[in-house]
Amino acid sequence: MKQEGIPKAWTAALIAFTIAGGTGALFRWGLLGFPLAGLQPVNIRHAHSHLMYFGWATPALMLLIGTLLARHTGRVGPLFVRFAGIAVAGGLLAYVPFLLFGYSPVRIGNARIPVATIVAALNMLVWYAFILHYLRLTRGISRPLWVRLWDASLVFMVLASLGAWGRALLVAMKVTDPFWENALVHLFLIAFSDGWFVLALLGVLYALLPAEISQTRRAQWATWSVLVGLPLTFLLGVPLELTPPTWRYLAGIAGIMVGLGLLLHLTVLVPQVSPLWRVPLAFLALKAVGEIGVSVPALARWAEANALRIPYLHWLLLGFVTLGLVMAADEVWQLKQRNWLWGWTLSVLAMELSLLPLTGLWPSPWRGMWTMQAAAWGALPVVLVALGHAVHFLWHRPRRSWHLQPLP
Ligand code: HEM
Repeated sequence: MKQEGIPKAWTAALIAFTIAGGTGALFRWGLLGFPLAGLQPVNIRHAHSHLMYFGWATPALMLLIGTLLARHTGRVGPLFVRFAGIAVAGGLLAYVPFLLFGYSPVRIGNARIPVATIVAALNMLVWYAFILHYLRLTRGISRPLWVRLWDASLVFMVLASLGAWGRALLVAMKVTDPFWENALVHLFLIAFSDGWFVLALLGVLYALLPAEISQTRRAQWATWSVLVGLPLTFLLGVPLELTPPTWRYLAGIAGIMVGLGLLLHLTVLVPQVSPLWRVPLAFLALKAVGEIGVSVPALARWAEANALRIPYLHWLLLGFVTLGLVMAADEVWQLKQRNWLWGWTLSVLAMELSLLPLTGLWPSPWRGMWTMQAAAWGALPVVLVALGHAVHFLWHRPRRSWHLQPLP
């Protein structure tokens, strides 16, 4: 069985990662006085995060799900690859206005147009098209745990997009309630990262393991715990003083359910995976413990005071999601590129470690300018590994198609 175009689309997603990672590194170097050619740091950060979400993790997951579904059902959906390619292109298209203008409207003639917001909204159309295609391909098939995890991940993708549309609606209706503004932004961010990315990648991981692993009672309970908690955890991102106490209390319970559910999944997965996979799973464990922590308001205040938000985000998005995607790709398409996997793992570890001295956990006598320099240098290895990996694929001109091996 063959599926055309996967190598090209995967390489394009890796190039998007390299550009997004390079942009994150530029943010760090900008703080050290590196010339930014008039770009605003806040816009550089928006450009970085949107390209990572839209142009890297989303298309990478589309490709993996499409390939694994084709193996499971025998139904090859060529549109998966096309949608992944369009998602990379859409991510790059949104990157430019985010970098230049951020969310600010741009004067075009007499009108002031929020260009980045409009292009970001266009990106959502390809997600909806992907969901429709997925529904058509999976109609009437058996639904083991990993297919149900993908079903749920796509529900969260829709929920995330509703957060984004809701935010645009508030602007159109000139509503300026800080709670709703914050809540809708976090609905988008958290439903997309913890819902779409995490559930979809867990589905990919279960699909790669023997079928009986997904059938264990523990895996089923873990999934329910995560699914029941997830719809409310976006409130944990909203500043404490803006959230009504009852909502914050419910969000705390939801966060604990998600954290415990993820830890329970790890007890099923860790004994089954190869040693290198344990690194992304360790980052998922850190994220789960962090989530349980911020569910308690006093600990959430402590985490905020110690500037733990950025490391916490990157444990999940770089440590688990990105490393997990690269390792899953190696297994799904049987690439057997062990050296590249080591390169990714070590460089991601270097980047994550370089963030720690920026937090309040670092002893104050050891602080100083060097911590900013370390974070700036620490951002580079992973960008170089991604660039090298993309160039490797371009250089070796991967076959038009990678073979689809039968599932274990
Ligand atoms: C090459 C690896 C990466 C580097 C060098 C990097 C760098 C950065 C930097 C410098 C920031 C801003 C920090 C601050 O405000 O103090 C940031 C924020 C962020 N990054 Fe990354 N990052 C990387 C990987 C990723 C990945 C893989 C994702 C998602 C899949 C991601 C998503 C985000 C998000 C959502 C934010 C917060 C944006 C905001 O608050 O507006 N990053 N990153």
